[in-house]
Amino acid sequence: MSYETITVEKNAAGNAGVTLMTLNRPKALNALNTQVLAELIEAFADYQADDTQLCAVLTGSGDKAFAAGADIKEMHDKAAADFYLDDFFSPWTSEIVKKTRKPWIAAVNGFALGGGCELAMMADFIIASENAKFGQPEIKLGVAPGMGGSQRLTRAIGKSKSMEMCLTGRMMGAEEAERANLVAKVVPHDDLLAETLKTAATIASMPPMAVIANKEMVNSAFEMTLDQGLIVERRIFQILTASEDKAEGMAAFIEKREGQWKGR
Ligand code: CAA
Repeated sequence: MSYETITVEKNAAGNAGVTLMTLNRPKALNALNTQVLAELIEAFADYQADDTQLCAVLTGSGDKAFAAGADIKEMHDKAAADFYLDDFFSPWTSEIVKKTRKPWIAAVNGFALGGGCELAMMADFIIASENAKFGQPEIKLGVAPGMGGSQRLTRAIGKSKSMEMCLTGRMMGAEEAERANLVAKVVPHDDLLAETLKTAATIASMPPMAVIANKEMVNSAFEMTLDQGLIVERRIFQILTASEDKAEGMAAFIEKREGQWKGR
């Protein structure tokens, strides 16, 4: 498949099972336009369908930005009716988040603003470089988050901090983002890609069905009451005990050897 606004590398940098996707509009600080969305939808569908690929990493090209937001130049001339009738921004969640059952990590290498911050928060977790800067500056454009910022940011860092970020449009640096639980860890800028690919490779080495199950369980915590979530957790656990990988994993532990996964 050929793309113009992103690049995709399977088994990236020799990491078996790891797909690297890179937003590739560095001159526009990787702003997210309709073409980026269409290409990402295709790339994520291909990742999801390819049984050889088990964890993905999404990052931004250039040294400056993960993504500086939805493309303001593209949105400038659109009328409210266009946004409403097209249900603008809806496919980010419906086509990417909902349809990608396998894990993916955002490697945030610089500005993650507006839609860029929202895209990073769609990932299963974020690893940030020391240079990362997160923010929801839409208010300065006379609008508000539209790709999930007010919801996912609030769930991640709580009401007070999220409200302050959305109302002032200020940026949050990597250290603060780690303290606020927005990111899983912060690494030196030059190590970001290698570190994130290493984490992805660790995930790709795990039993694949258990990986998807763990992702589904953790996500349930955001959608359900505790009682409902605990039931989902137990049922998924019980289903996993019927898998060949459960038999192999427990036998491998007892026999003091590495498990060989079938993904079933
Ligand atoms: N859309 C389109 N183009 C963008 C862009 C965006 N979101 N962000 C940056 N660019 C472009 C700039 O227009 C500029 O292009 P030209 O060279 O053709 O003028 C180029 O990228 C470089 O940007 P700057 O010259 O502005 O770089 P800087 O280092 O001076 O500033 C910045 C960096 C602080 C990130 C600044 O670019 C900025 O504030 N960008 C906009 C951030 C923003 O408001 N994001 C939210 C967008 S709305 C949204 O995302 C809605 C939603 O909820 C989904």
